[in-house]
Amino acid sequence: MTTESLPTPRTPDSAQAPALRWGVLGTGWIADTFVRSLHAHTRQVVQAVGSRTLESAERAARAWEAPVAHGSYEALVADPDVDVVYVATPHNYHLPHALLAIEAGKHVLVEKPVGLDAAEARAIGDAAERAGVFCMEAMWTLFLPKFDVVRQLLTDGVLGRIVIAQADMGERFDPPHRVTQVDLAGGPLLDLGTYAATFATWVLGEPDEVTAVATPGPGGVNGQLAVALRTASGAIGSLHTSILADSATTANVIGTEGRIDLGTRYYLPGPMTLHQRCGPTLSWSEPMVEHAALHFEAAEVARRIVGGATGSPLRPWADTVATLELMDRVRAATGLDFEEARAVRGL
Ligand SMILES: NC(=O)c1ccc[n+]([C@@H]2O[C@H](COP(=O)([O-])OP(=O)(O)OC[C@H]3O[C@@H](n4cnc5c(N)ncnc54)[C@H](OP(=O)(O)O)[C@@H]3O)[C@@H](O)[C@H]2O)c1
Repeated sequence: MTTESLPTPRTPDSAQAPALRWGVLGTGWIADTFVRSLHAHTRQVVQAVGSRTLESAERAARAWEAPVAHGSYEALVADPDVDVVYVATPHNYHLPHALLAIEAGKHVLVEKPVGLDAAEARAIGDAAERAGVFCMEAMWTLFLPKFDVVRQLLTDGVLGRIVIAQADMGERFDPPHRVTQVDLAGGPLLDLGTYAATFATWVLGEPDEVTAVATPGPGGVNGQLAVALRTASGAIGSLHTSILADSATTANVIGTEGRIDLGTRYYLPGPMTLHQRCGPTLSWSEPMVEHAALHFEAAEVARRIVGGATGSPLRPWADTVATLELMDRVRAATGLDFEEARAVRGL
């Protein structure tokens, strides 16, 4: 099927989402960026901040106009005025911190990747199911209006049979950044690579075969890696991710009847083009507001929780697990284990 126009995104207005009281667990870069987006675009209430020290909790609470500062994560999750906890600590702490919130009876939005491997993702999903709380990965790209246009094009079969998905994500990071630290599960795979792995599994589903090669990076972490995969239907995926250099960071989906090119920094709001074999070339453009668009995922969380759901169909937990399963296979192929990052948690 060809199309004469791009579908309209079905993304609701974030400002209309019902207001929940959020507890923010961790006060780093993404927590700050998330809160600023909430304030600018939603009615969500940043009720409380939890940090490892009271001093940094109070500093963040002042900056975020949050009424309550807690000097421990335990105190945050015990706060009866918090409806939902946003877990924004480094990757290897997502498992203990998500479980802390879930076991306190809180709904959770967990930063990507939700764990070091699929087993950790399953443990969080199982705990949330037992507790009957909402649980979702903060894979915010999938909540952007642009991705709902792509979602509809894929669902409508505009590309014909999908044969190739390609994604790369490379950004140079130098020590002492978190992604160069072995004990924080550094390297590109779990960080930037999550986007490429998500894109591949979202478009192609579970692969039959996965191969990968890797290059060492600073501080003993992995520096970059490339992945080739094939599905049972014969579709192939090609991914690479690096912390050694800034790559074009593009993605595309190629089918027998056309292709979608997602431009540079495809995981952010920005341009996208549909090329059709027998139809017009159609382009999507929008303001390139980068992480200011984090509010779309938060609004989705609020709508689903108020509606009584325990997850979102836009990023089901099973898809989160499937993405980590792909990354487990990449780790197996390249010998990455994240043992130091597991050990420091003392679990
Ligand atoms: N969605 C996105 O676009 C996006 C972008 C960047 C990062 N992320 C994800 O968000 C998570 C956090 O990344 P970030 O860049 O915000 O990191 P960051 O700036 O280093 O902040 C992490 C925060 O976690 C807390 N923390 C707890 N244990 C820690 C430890 N042992 N070492 C360091 N910090 C610790 C700290 O808060 P307190 O001191 O207050 O306790 C710290 O400020 C990562 O998993 C990353 O993948 C997502």
